Amino acid sequence: MKATLKLDPSDQISKIDERIYGSFIEQLGRAVYDGIYQPGQATADKNGLRKDVIEAVKKLNVPIIRYPGGNFLSQYKWEDGIGPKDQRPTKLDLAWQTIETNQFGLDEFMTWLDKVGAKANMAVNLATRGVLPAAALVEYCNFPKGSYWSDMRRKNGHKKPYNIKTWCLGNEMDGPWEIGQMNAHQYGHIANEAGKAMRRVDDSIELVACGSSSMDNPTFGDWEREVLDECYDNVDYLSLHRYYGFYNDDDPNDLANYLGKNVDLNQFIKGVVAICDAEKAKRKTKKTINLSMDEWNVWYHSNDQDAKTKPWQKAPHLLEDIYDFEDALLVGSLLITLLKNSDRVKIACLAQLVNVIAPIMTDDKKVWYQSIFYPYMQVSNYGKGIALKPNVEVPTYKSREFDAVPYLDTIATFDKQNGEMTIFAENKNQKETMDFVTSLRDIKATKVIEATQFYGYGVKEDNRDGKMKLRPLKASLDEDKVSAELQPLSWNMIRIKVK
Ligand code: AHR
Repeated sequence: MKATLKLDPSDQISKIDERIYGSFIEQLGRAVYDGIYQPGQATADKNGLRKDVIEAVKKLNVPIIRYPGGNFLSQYKWEDGIGPKDQRPTKLDLAWQTIETNQFGLDEFMTWLDKVGAKANMAVNLATRGVLPAAALVEYCNFPKGSYWSDMRRKNGHKKPYNIKTWCLGNEMDGPWEIGQMNAHQYGHIANEAGKAMRRVDDSIELVACGSSSMDNPTFGDWEREVLDECYDNVDYLSLHRYYGFYNDDDPNDLANYLGKNVDLNQFIKGVVAICDAEKAKRKTKKTINLSMDEWNVWYHSNDQDAKTKPWQKAPHLLEDIYDFEDALLVGSLLITLLKNSDRVKIACLAQLVNVIAPIMTDDKKVWYQSIFYPYMQVSNYGKGIALKPNVEVPTYKSREFDAVPYLDTIATFDKQNGEMTIFAENKNQKETMDFVTSLRDIKATKVIEATQFYGYGVKEDNRDGKMKLRPLKASLDEDKVSAELQPLSWNMIRIKVK
């Protein structure tokens, strides 16, 4: 099979907001406890932060991490997680029916973030708390000194304000599972009021309002419209959440359909953009609402096991999906879809980061990487600068849900500052190799810096034994053309030095 990608440096999608490679740590299962925080573990520092996990997260170059939830957020009192640890209350976490000791909270998270080199995407509970506790949290985090909450932060050992820029106004407020679910009108109103109060404390912050927790929710579409009706002026982004797996009518062996699910993500994003822009037109405003895809991933492997987990345990094994090779291919394709929409998707968080539907897993002794770690690591490290429009010629196939899935998913990013261009390309053909030629037109390429391929594993194979690795790919540069042969079912990256 042949495929061509035509690039033109002036045909751009957008400058990529680095927050598009964000991730998520929720106080859930073993993400925090026995994940990033495990006092006494062999690599743990004096604060109980596991250094082996810190090193693994650093490999992913995650720019921003959402915290503390998730569903956990909607029943959480952030004040329970600050101050002397021996005075913190042990509480029932009503979202996941576990025991929350509060030994890890806001300040510990910010200390950990510093070590992994990421920024916070902090969420405020608007479901069961409200306007003033949200404004107080901004005061605790961002106000320099001389007020009750800022002085409390200083007393707790953090003299400098955290200056958190990105804030989520609640979580999945449309979801019937959410403690404190609201209708769109109620939520839009409280998001508006909380946003107003939070900005009074710090007017440099950016705010994300909750969109639908899934495109399949019956309120999808109306929810976005009604929420924006209430809070358009006081928010900057609308969120989207989307998980994939073999659900309902899916045949677990229908790989062609599974690998086409990025078509669904693209449709979801385009739909929400259309709603935001309709609201903009109606208001006759210059202000554009952009998108925060603040939860996305594959999530289905652990569902049956989780249904059997006994409630009220501390740090139980929850949402511990073990990812197959086919999941890595889908994640790669979803990352390309996010980049293709980077003109409007400015923030995105792979949900989640450690142990809970995560690229990084731990046990008491070691850290290991899931299959999905690899495409995420490559895109977050090398997908920099400008996303170029991918003009692609390649055949498509029809699957159960999707009429036209291109056999090739690809995008190139152009980082003028570092003189680098990176091409990400996935061959979804299950049998045939692909002769892949990229024509560079006015891009002056001097050499191939690195080319890798991720392939050769059974689609239902996982990486518990640590055998998965990126292999070298033969890619050649001939004047204005880069050529490579992409293996069937492969994820590929080609980095090129440009003048
Ligand atoms: O990421 C797991 C859960 O998925 C989150 O807590 C919630 O927001 C979503 O339903």
